[in-house]
Amino acid sequence: MNQASNFNQGVDTAFYVILGISLFFLVAITTTMIYFAIKYNKKRNPQAGDLKDNHKLEIIWTVIPTLLVLVMFYVGWEGYRPMRNIPDNAYWIKATGRMWSWSFEYPNGKVSPELYVPKGKPIALKLYSPDVIHSLYIPAYRIKEDVTPGVNNKMWFIPQQIGEYDIFCAEYCGDLHSSMISKVKVLEPEEFEKWLNSDKASGKTEMTSGEKILVQNGCLACHSRDGSKIVGPSFKGLYGSTRTVFDAQNNLKEETFDEKYFKRSVYAPNEEVVQGYPKGIMQSYKETISEEDLKAMFEYLKTLK
Ligand code: CUA
Repeated sequence: MNQASNFNQGVDTAFYVILGISLFFLVAITTTMIYFAIKYNKKRNPQAGDLKDNHKLEIIWTVIPTLLVLVMFYVGWEGYRPMRNIPDNAYWIKATGRMWSWSFEYPNGKVSPELYVPKGKPIALKLYSPDVIHSLYIPAYRIKEDVTPGVNNKMWFIPQQIGEYDIFCAEYCGDLHSSMISKVKVLEPEEFEKWLNSDKASGKTEMTSGEKILVQNGCLACHSRDGSKIVGPSFKGLYGSTRTVFDAQNNLKEETFDEKYFKRSVYAPNEEVVQGYPKGIMQSYKETISEEDLKAMFEYLKTLK
């Protein structure tokens, strides 16, 4: 049977070889130790024996472990090396990890919070982080790679089975590190093409452009649409509401949620922070969200009553 990805076999072999050797020595050393502790107990041997060097024994217990460690290195290296060689025909997707969500951008500009891939094709991920270090981890595929700001890390794999697999963030990146969860969704190549060329983000419902921008930028990881408190204030019922905020000088004041206020909260989120929420958590989105996009988002927020 095909395994989930092309790397499972190499990594699993290394794992079982190391586990096997470790188990063998755990049992062998523990048994010998107990046996010697009984046999050479002081009560039975009141006089210490005449101890001498044993060169033969010393050579054996140096050479054998060295060989075993080299075996472990070899199987590990064989499992690891193919991960570093991305095939020329790989299909590239840009993976963004930010506090605290993932998004995946396809060559045609489509962005999805889940990683959709066609079965049997080499998939390469270009890893990007705008804020801190994250780590993209797909346990079922046996692959993990840091997503580091300013560093062009990459990873690749061939999905070999139709199905859904977990994606986690494996580098502690702040409050909601543990909620940086997504999925790989492996489709038949034709299904994948269909998905890629449809306008549906998660394969379920059509989205307005404002909603799409929220999804693409991972806003919904911190701001709910149903009134619940995550990291930042919920988007529900924002429009026209009055909020108490701390300004940059830590003075409390009242603000009405209008287009101007919304723009300030996206471009300079730490100038005013709503009372009851932590400061310095959100980054400015001036570089990533255009004024036009901002308008579309604002129109969408108006509908969340
Ligand atoms: Cu991102 Cu942990």
